[in-house]
Amino acid sequence: MGLFDGKVAIVTGAGRGIGREEALLLAKEGAAVVVNDLGGARTGEGSDVGPAQQVVDEIVAAGGRAAANTDDCSSWTGAEAMVNQAIETFGSLDILVNNAGILRDKMSFNMTEEEWDAVVKVHLKGHFAPTRFAAAYWRQKSKDTGEKVNAKVVNTASESGLYGNAGQANYAAAKAGIASMTIVLARELERFGVRVNCIAPVALTRLTEDLMAPNDDLAAKLDPANIAAGVCWLASDLSEGVTGQVLKIQGGVAQIVQGWRPITEITSDSAWTIEAIAAQRATLFSKSDPGVPPFLLNISDPTA
Ligand SMILES: NC(=O)c1ccc[n+]([C@@H]2O[C@H](COP(=O)([O-])OP(=O)(O)OC[C@H]3O[C@@H](n4cnc5c(N)ncnc54)[C@H](O)[C@@H]3O)[C@@H](O)[C@H]2O)c1
Repeated sequence: MGLFDGKVAIVTGAGRGIGREEALLLAKEGAAVVVNDLGGARTGEGSDVGPAQQVVDEIVAAGGRAAANTDDCSSWTGAEAMVNQAIETFGSLDILVNNAGILRDKMSFNMTEEEWDAVVKVHLKGHFAPTRFAAAYWRQKSKDTGEKVNAKVVNTASESGLYGNAGQANYAAAKAGIASMTIVLARELERFGVRVNCIAPVALTRLTEDLMAPNDDLAAKLDPANIAAGVCWLASDLSEGVTGQVLKIQGGVAQIVQGWRPITEITSDSAWTIEAIAAQRATLFSKSDPGVPPFLLNISDPTA
């Protein structure tokens, strides 16, 4: 018996890297998987059916069920078609893993409009669009049956978005948006029986191989399969009750990461003045901040 027997999943960007491992593990555990991948370059240009089809072939050769999809997950019509394909081919949709991504790193003062737009579109809209159509399907299903649907969404953030990484204003803004959107979606969809969580992975893939000086030890530690285990836990009933959370996995360490919240407070009975705030600065900063963890990934040339 597999953990996902009878379930239908979509994984975006599943032709390579982390998404590939997620699709393989979901299928190994019994899910029928729509393997979405546009098949473009690391920076997002171009398209190729090869990566998605190869993963499908691998799943089918191992006795699993899968179908390739090469839609751009950040296209409204592509996202709708992808969700429809899962329902028409395999009869339902139970799990959506939003994973597809690209990088176009530049310091803010050198970034072009195109570099900003492309990265924000693939990540932020590329997460929202498939979720929007999956959510509409689950809402209708829940209304039709009068029951909760027991579905899951797993999004993909990054420590770049959680902690901020120089050279990635476009990517970090999108990833922070994805972490926030996870909380919104968890609140909106809980009533229909949908849990929404987020992974913040660190893995050696084509996105990171030139940033990490890869070696065998690092490759073993940062195997993308390691991330797939966390995503599949979030996508399974074994994580029942968990929603709106960000799980970071880096090598042998897994953490729940939580964000913005008040840590100190000052009060005033009358309208604030600049001076009144300045006078209480020490109270505002009275709690020692452990600081954000050191950053593993840094663009090699900070002026690039
Ligand atoms: N590798 C890491 O350490 C790391 C760290 C933080 C976050 N992430 C995130 O994990 C996710 C997977 O990254 P990866 O490292 O496996 O990269 P990867 O380049 O190996 O795989 C990403 C896949 O997404 C596909 N893709 C890109 N744009 C697409 C689109 N519009 N529609 C459909 N498919 C598209 C690509 O063709 C590619 O196969 C990304 O969201 C990335 O930002 C990765």
